Amino acid sequence: MSENGDFIIKVKDVSKDYGKFRALESMSFTVPKGSIYGLVGRNGAGKTTIMRIISGLQKPTKGTVEYGFDHKKLGNVGALVELPSIYSNYSARDNLVFQYMNLGLKIDSSIDEKLRLVGLGNTGSKRAGKFSLGMRQRLGIAMAMCGNPEVLILDEPINGLDPQGIIQIRDLLTQLNKDKGITIIISSHILSELSKLATDFAFVEAGKVIKEIKAEELENVGGLVTEFYTGTPEKLIPVLNSKGLKTTFDPESRVVLAKGYYNLTNVVTAASEAGVNIARVVTRETDLETYFVKLVGGESNA
Ligand SMILES: Nc1ncnc2c1ncn2[C@@H]1O[C@H](COP(=O)(O)OP(=O)(O)O)[C@@H](O)[C@H]1O
Ligand SMILES: [Mg+2]
Repeated sequence: MSENGDFIIKVKDVSKDYGKFRALESMSFTVPKGSIYGLVGRNGAGKTTIMRIISGLQKPTKGTVEYGFDHKKLGNVGALVELPSIYSNYSARDNLVFQYMNLGLKIDSSIDEKLRLVGLGNTGSKRAGKFSLGMRQRLGIAMAMCGNPEVLILDEPINGLDPQGIIQIRDLLTQLNKDKGITIIISSHILSELSKLATDFAFVEAGKVIKEIKAEELENVGGLVTEFYTGTPEKLIPVLNSKGLKTTFDPESRVVLAKGYYNLTNVVTAASEAGVNIARVVTRETDLETYFVKLVGGESNA
């Protein structure tokens, strides 16, 4: 996000009731322009509901969605929410032709470009009903791309794919984001699926966004953290840094925190050569899933 806070979508205090049941409860978050924005939360958290609302498929009971672009222009919001509506008796190309017709677009060679873009350029007359799940998802993405959208909204596009299928979708989305500058909003109930892809995360729980965090900050959450206790922190810090460890120093507790992996013997030897006496070493390791469970509380399927 730029300094002045360029946003593409801003969700403000959105609530959604299904009869007496409140599915979304004053949900707020901001999607920066050009981001890959990951909505993470367990099943039933409200991801699909908010994506349907952003896509204009549903109306909020309360609250607003602001758009930083012309979202009323047909095709400008490309959405793949739940399973793509694909005609299984028709080829990938025919499916795109139908989508072009729906959007009132001229049928031309840009259709074949879109097929190639998602890696379905060589599927010929093969019926979409015979496609693998990964191919169907990529066809769904191609359909969402037909109107050259500013934003792609993809609800669990990785769900149920095999590792190769996951890599293909991940590469495709990275490419669409980088080369075409498309902002992508993507959901998953599995945090690690998005951890190599998203630039921003919103954690959704019980109809609310309970935390927004940048990918760089999330990186700092996981991994190995070591507390070094020493009488001479000013001498220890350069030694740790020379071993490639990122350090922070807390003057109050006088503990040096080091982030990253290292060989303890090498570090202790180097410290002793530098005349540093290390009194105590405490390590702790957190991973993304632990972080997620702590954040949402209780058991998680993420
Ligand atoms: N059409 C509907 N009618 C009633 N309840 C619904 C409807 N759609 C979703 N819900 C409920 O709203 C909550 C959020 O659902 P959903 O947005 O699908 O969550 P997620 O996509 O995160 O799994 C769930 O408790 C779900 O059962
Ligand atoms: Mg869902």
